[in-house]
Amino acid sequence: MDLGKKEWNPSGTGDLRIGSTLMPHKLKESQAIIDIATQRDAQRIWAGINLDALEENLKTVKQMLNGKKILLAIKADAYGHGAKEIAAHLNGKVDMFGVASVEEGINLRTNTRITSPILILSPIPYSVIPALFDYNLTPTISEKEFARVLAATAKKKNQPIRVHIEVDTGMGRTGLPFAEALSTITKIGSEPYLKIEGIFTHFPAADSDFSFTREQIARFSQLTESLAQAGIKPIIRHIANSAGFLNFTESYFDMIRPGLIIYGIHPNQNTAKTIPLKPVMSLRTRVVNLRWVAKGTSISYERTYITKRASLIAVITAGYGDGYPWSLSNTGEVIVAGKRAKIVGNVCMDLTMIDVTDIEGVKIGDIVTLIGSAGDETITVNEVAKWAKTIPYEIITRISPRVPRLFIKEGRVQKVRNLLNL
Ligand SMILES: Cc1ncc(COP(=O)(O)O)c(C=O)c1O
Repeated sequence: MDLGKKEWNPSGTGDLRIGSTLMPHKLKESQAIIDIATQRDAQRIWAGINLDALEENLKTVKQMLNGKKILLAIKADAYGHGAKEIAAHLNGKVDMFGVASVEEGINLRTNTRITSPILILSPIPYSVIPALFDYNLTPTISEKEFARVLAATAKKKNQPIRVHIEVDTGMGRTGLPFAEALSTITKIGSEPYLKIEGIFTHFPAADSDFSFTREQIARFSQLTESLAQAGIKPIIRHIANSAGFLNFTESYFDMIRPGLIIYGIHPNQNTAKTIPLKPVMSLRTRVVNLRWVAKGTSISYERTYITKRASLIAVITAGYGDGYPWSLSNTGEVIVAGKRAKIVGNVCMDLTMIDVTDIEGVKIGDIVTLIGSAGDETITVNEVAKWAKTIPYEIITRISPRVPRLFIKEGRVQKVRNLLNL
């Protein structure tokens, strides 16, 4: 027996596998580990996912749609919120889910019972085309050769496939070049195994360059009219991302395609407060060490902070290994004991230091809010993004898998997703 080769039995029975023999081992203890991991008090850091806020944001947006469809962008693990759980929770409440890859689509099809269509918004490698048929995923055609290979595969399988076609009206990324779109789409329309279900384009600057965005909407309208005249009427025309939704009612067409606003975050200042949104994600950690240090003490790696007075320094269990940006070093703020405290020194992989000299009553074990509200204070994702010199999208999508997601409904933790049950 090879005692060096130990692994946890993934069936979750709590048995310990030693070599190839399954040993009944410490069932109670391993169950305890799982219990600990599902209790908020035991977490070193956690992201609260407020499912009520999610539903409210969706309701707010839907009220403005006059019955038009909605695709929820759920790629990148639902912007860090947990794709499986968000999709399961909103199944039947949105018309489609949008992912970025075949793997993200397969994850939803195999690990949730969702029945809604799943649209893959980005180009995929040709080699994974067969999986589209096996897992009922809808691809986007954004270049001619992909359409040819897809049609050939569909014919070989004798299985027609629904497709959406992306046209580049100004994003400068993917999509059929606008000048060729009419002729290429007409050709795709004559392929018996490709069923055009939708046509779309994407906005690069719907919150900053309004005249450019208007021009894109005009181009898209013109194209869909020409296609209709040519006998091609995609059922679903869509453009609007969050910023498009907030700023251009005329961009709604048949379906909108938001992500960020449904997670309760405004794209930027230009659209702030247009509609009431509730942040879905909060990020909290706790104080694990607290001590007074003398004036002139250096804090953390590279010694970028030297105390200017005798200081009370608290250590919190959050770091760049959790996706809490290193660029917050000496820049970011957190909430502890109802007050804002500054990050001092460099953010480490697992730990960060904050100065609590002027804050009364901080104790080891206290909860520290990195994103969210505590007492009268609130730190928004946008604020963290500004400190970290990035965009809110990056802050939420980089929260790492080792940060447990606690799904909260009516103030109660309904489900926990952590490294033990990813
Ligand atoms: C093609 C496409 N549609 C929609 C979205 C959703 O954008 P937002 O989160 O700004 O609403 C994205 C996001 O990156 C996207 O790439």
